Order: sequence, then C-alpha cells, then structure tokens
Amino acid sequence: MAKTYVLGIESTAHTFGVGIVSGEGEILANVRRIYKPSHGGIHPREASQFLASKAPEALAEAFKTAGIRPADIAAVAFAQGPGLGPCLRTGATVARSVALTLGKPLYPVNHGVAHIEIGKLLTGCSDPVVLYVAGGNTLITTLAEKRYRILGETLDIAAGNCLDAFGISAGIGPMPSPEEYARRGRELFDMPYRVKGMDVSFSGLLTAAENLLSQGKPLEDVCLSLTETVYSMLTEITERAMAMTGKDSALLVGGLARSMRLREMLETMCVDRGGKLYVVPEEFAGDNGAMIAWLGYLHYRCGRPVDVSESYVKPRMRIDEVEVCWS
Ligand code: FE2
Repeated sequence: MAKTYVLGIESTAHTFGVGIVSGEGEILANVRRIYKPSHGGIHPREASQFLASKAPEALAEAFKTAGIRPADIAAVAFAQGPGLGPCLRTGATVARSVALTLGKPLYPVNHGVAHIEIGKLLTGCSDPVVLYVAGGNTLITTLAEKRYRILGETLDIAAGNCLDAFGISAGIGPMPSPEEYARRGRELFDMPYRVKGMDVSFSGLLTAAENLLSQGKPLEDVCLSLTETVYSMLTEITERAMAMTGKDSALLVGGLARSMRLREMLETMCVDRGGKLYVVPEEFAGDNGAMIAWLGYLHYRCGRPVDVSESYVKPRMRIDEVEVCWS
C-alpha cells in the first residue's frame, strides 16, 4: 500500500522549517533556515522577510532529501499560532499556495501541540505530564478529555526568553551561553523565586540578575544563580503536576529541552518519585517543520481539512483551543 506523506511548514518566529513525514512516523526531511538578528531580539518584519526569502530553497531541499515528488504528498500543514504575526503569515501563504497548486487538503495546526506530539512520537511515551519550555513559551500541561489542559504557565516572560535576554544584555549572547558560563560559577546569590501554584514568573528574576551584574558581581556566579533558579522553578511545577495528576512520567519539549542542567534536575526529581523523564531528541527540540508535518498527519487522520479562505493565523493561539481528535 502506498505511504501517506504530509508536508509541514513552520514559521512562528525565527525558523523557516519544512518537514516531510510519513503516516508511519518516519521523518523523511527536516530542513531549517534560521534568522539571526544582527543585534537584540527578533524584529518581526525583518524575520518574516528572511523567512519568505528562504522558502523556495527550503521547500526544494525538503523534497530532494525526502526523495519524493510534490504530487506524492497527501496534505499540507502549517503552524497557525502562537507566534509573530508577520512570520506566521509568511508560512501560511507558502502553505496555502502549495496546497492550492497541488490540489491537496490544508491543515493549520498549533505550534505548541506540535512540540508535544513530536516528543511523544520520538520518545514513545504515552501519557505524560509535559513541560514545554522555549524562548516564547513556558507551560505545564497534560492530556485530559481530548485537550491539552494548561495546568500552569508563565505569568510574564518565557523561561527561554529570560535566559536569552539576560545573555544578550550581559554581552555573552543567548542560550546556551548563560548555561555555559554557569558551569564556571561558584557562588549562588539569593534570587526572586516566583512559583504560584503551577504558574511561574520570570521577569523579576531577569531584573534581579541584571542588577547583580551592574553591581559588579562575577558573570559566572550570576549565570549560575539565574539558571539554577529558573530550572528549580520549572522542576517544582513539573513535580506538582505529576503529584496532582498521579502520572508517573514527564516529557520535556521545546528549545530549552537542550539544557543538560534542566534535564539533570528533572531526571533527579522523576527518579525520586519512582517516575521517568522523557526528553525530545535535540534535533527536534527547537522549532522545526517535521513536528508541524507530524501534527498535520494526525489532523489528516481525523479528516476535517480547513478551506484556504478560512485558514487564518492566530498569533495568540493557546494549546487548549485544539480538540485532540487523534487520541
Ligand atoms: Fe517553538
């Protein structure tokens, strides 16, 4: 029987990603073009222009790597949100034109749910508590009654954003630099530790770290204090979620899943509880097209494609807006 292939396009922030997966869960292509701002954070318009300029070559490379023709795909998926409006619209425009040109169904999908589902696919875990941490998102969730319910989330900036912003203002650049400097730190300073139930807040912590640095404290020690506090807070809410739901496994997804120290803390907590930690493989931790393609396939399996005229982007989309029809 012929295989089902789905094309996925990611463009929520700095990455233009094109993935091609099969219904059996094989990842045939995962092409990325990443926008790196010359200074500071992401400028949405500049980023979207970069993404648009890389789209044709990334698409061509994905089909070449996968060894299939465009006509062989069964469906096209794109990241509908959350993300930066201009970047989302770029990916959506590319996806719509591919779907219309090839006459294939179109599936707008949630970027956060895609991070979770690629993690489940590649680690084989079935019903975990999920910690999703990245530059733009921080939340703890689990599947209950057909939705990823948000048990807790950041009340202000994302954990990854906190670490990236500190690294940039300290002149060492974004992650993983702050964690690398932290390895040479010796002293832990008192830091604001803000956990409210399963919600967290990082903006005061960022300010405190910047203040310590401006007072002349050693950069390595400030990095150590900052990263240890951020990761402790994330570990605490993950443990609370496991205790509340009675689930014995945790899945770590998103760009911050690359952090060895965060993994170590979560691992220790899980083992102490007699549970197990699963971590998405590094290549699929950051934003990528394969995760969009895989979630596109899951939606495809449920049917219900979306007409091009209704395939809006949703910059503030939340993961609990999605009905998990495939599970
Ligand atoms: Fe992401």
